Amino acid sequence: MKILALDTSCDDTSTAVVDGLKVESNVISSQVRYHKKFGGVVPFLAQRLHKERIDSVVELALKRAEIDPLRLDAIAVTVGPGLAPALEVGIQKAKTLAEKWNLPIYRVNHMAGHLASSLTQVGSRVNQVEFPVLGLLVSGGHTELVYAKKWGDFKLLGQTLDDALGEAYDKLSKMLGMGYPGGPLIAKLAEKGEASRYELPIPLKYSKDYNFSYSGLKNASRLLIETLRAESPDGVLNRAQIEDLAASFEKVAQTAIVLKVEKVLHDYPECQYLLLGGGVAANTVLRRRLRVACKPFGVKLITPLHRFLCTDNAAMIGVAAYLDYLAGKKPDKISELDRKPGLLIG
Ligand code: KG4
Ligand code: ZN
Repeated sequence: MKILALDTSCDDTSTAVVDGLKVESNVISSQVRYHKKFGGVVPFLAQRLHKERIDSVVELALKRAEIDPLRLDAIAVTVGPGLAPALEVGIQKAKTLAEKWNLPIYRVNHMAGHLASSLTQVGSRVNQVEFPVLGLLVSGGHTELVYAKKWGDFKLLGQTLDDALGEAYDKLSKMLGMGYPGGPLIAKLAEKGEASRYELPIPLKYSKDYNFSYSGLKNASRLLIETLRAESPDGVLNRAQIEDLAASFEKVAQTAIVLKVEKVLHDYPECQYLLLGGGVAANTVLRRRLRVACKPFGVKLITPLHRFLCTDNAAMIGVAAYLDYLAGKKPDKISELDRKPGLLIG
């Protein structure tokens, strides 16, 4: 089944062609350099840029997959969660194309897409899993633990009460006067830092639920930066301090994840697989720590098979739609398709 998928949920204009689980093409036009100076994504700027780029991104995805639109079987599009003005562009384009080519259309939850990213086939490589599975989704907007009895039968077990994990990385980067997105930058600095130098609080260490919280860690980091700046003769942090701060932050931010993952693995012994998705899934230290956490439970950590599948991409949206189709979901009515900025999984 060949699906043309579109995702414009945030600051990437992405279109892909998938054939079943397999990626045939995946085009991502990033807007990062435009939003960078604002330290985050500006919704109406994102909308304007999506509008400018969507046609060429669709064209390129079809070209790279070497497919005539007449050979497509369906269109898939992200309807939420995401930025309303940004989502709107992908949905309108998907509707137009579905009508033009007379194709059925499937709406996709962006977080179900991130869950599908580790089930997505790249070349001849594909991850095999058996349901029920657990999912850990860590992106710039979301931090979620999901239980999936089978594909499509999702239960949201816990989520962040305030900032998401990726957002916390981004905000620390901004506080340090560095770039956006901050995740890869902080992760790089943390590699060289001493994680035990600064003591920062582990978020929700003692809570008995599956939720997360990163605003307390953000505030503690801000206070620490202010104190270090006040103590510094020239008012700036030196390289070693920045690296140690990044490492100390990363350690506790990830410990909060590991603690809840251990809890969920303990509470759901019927699950043999933990699927990891979202931009922060690209973090190699997090992957390593999760693998270690999974081991005593006999659980296998399943990660996306390529970096491009971690951050936002349309291939995962196409694969989620294909899995929906396999699960018996019927196509959606074009007239009923609308943006759902606050859509939850499950
Ligand atoms: O999934 P994604 O592309 O967008 C959302 O749906 O939110 O995730 C982007 C987030 C950003 O916050 C970015 O800083 C973070 O993923 N990120 C990372 C890494 N690569 C991207 N965070 C930590 N370590 C990384 N290597
Ligand atoms: Zn995302």
